[in-house]
Amino acid sequence: MRKQVRAAVFPVAGRGTRFLPATKASPKEMLPIVDKPLIQYAVEEAIAAGATKLVFVTGASKRAIEDHFDTDAELERALTESGKTDLLESVRDIVPNNVSCVYIRQGQPLGLGHAVLCARPAVGDEPFFVHLADDLIAGEPCLKELADEYERHGSSVVAVEEVPHENTSSYGIVAVEESKNGRRMTEIVEKPKPADAPSNLAVVGRYLLAPEIWGKLEGTGRGAGGEIQLTDAIADLLDVADVYAHSFSGTRYDCGSKLGYLQATVAYGLSHSEIGDEFRTFLKRSVG
Ligand code: G1P
Repeated sequence: MRKQVRAAVFPVAGRGTRFLPATKASPKEMLPIVDKPLIQYAVEEAIAAGATKLVFVTGASKRAIEDHFDTDAELERALTESGKTDLLESVRDIVPNNVSCVYIRQGQPLGLGHAVLCARPAVGDEPFFVHLADDLIAGEPCLKELADEYERHGSSVVAVEEVPHENTSSYGIVAVEESKNGRRMTEIVEKPKPADAPSNLAVVGRYLLAPEIWGKLEGTGRGAGGEIQLTDAIADLLDVADVYAHSFSGTRYDCGSKLGYLQATVAYGLSHSEIGDEFRTFLKRSVG
């Protein structure tokens, strides 16, 4: 039996400058897709994959995230008194009782690798998930797919998808070889120019990492963009351990970009039980 993956790390300290002024005073992770903030989709995916400890690595102006996952007794009382039971349910059980939330501040914006390392005291010597809420994945919970793959071979797994070759400089890019356990990573590079990219297979924001990554992160210096990159620590991990690339079954929306965010809003709006049909009619009428 493999160790159960219990902790999920959510690096949420970034300022979200691409969405200013919307993100001036509120976190980008609180932007809603229809009626739920991005970070709630993230948390629900981690819980669906079995996580029972949610570790948020936060920064300045991120208080709203803590409030969102805390109990709001006053709101619950008001909804109870007015008989709005559906709404009451929607705010009450966001985080089930067996799941705990831990908040750690990333004092300086030194990069994704540094943010993940900040979570070490809360995670400990165990395998753990990393979830980047900007990448919203509809369909099967992607972290669950990573956990299932980990269950088979016991090594780290990273979610990947093919991207247009000209876009490699926006992603961690991997090279893989087929092995009996799946696609074993042979190389990973952070944001290479298309001419230098080993493939067009891009890392999306879902990782299941073995605890050996901690030692690698400790030793990782500044890389692409002058930041401490998780990608570079994974590259070091390849020297001592297997890491697999998993092509997930869901559909990814890059909610860190305005276009991806709108595409997600339309897709989730169309499949929403309350407004989906009317929204479809509206869209048909609007685009002809
Ligand atoms: C981060 C990672 C990158 C990965 C991407 C996925 O980059 O550093 O390797 O491909 O997330 O969204 P960021 O988008 O934070 O610049």
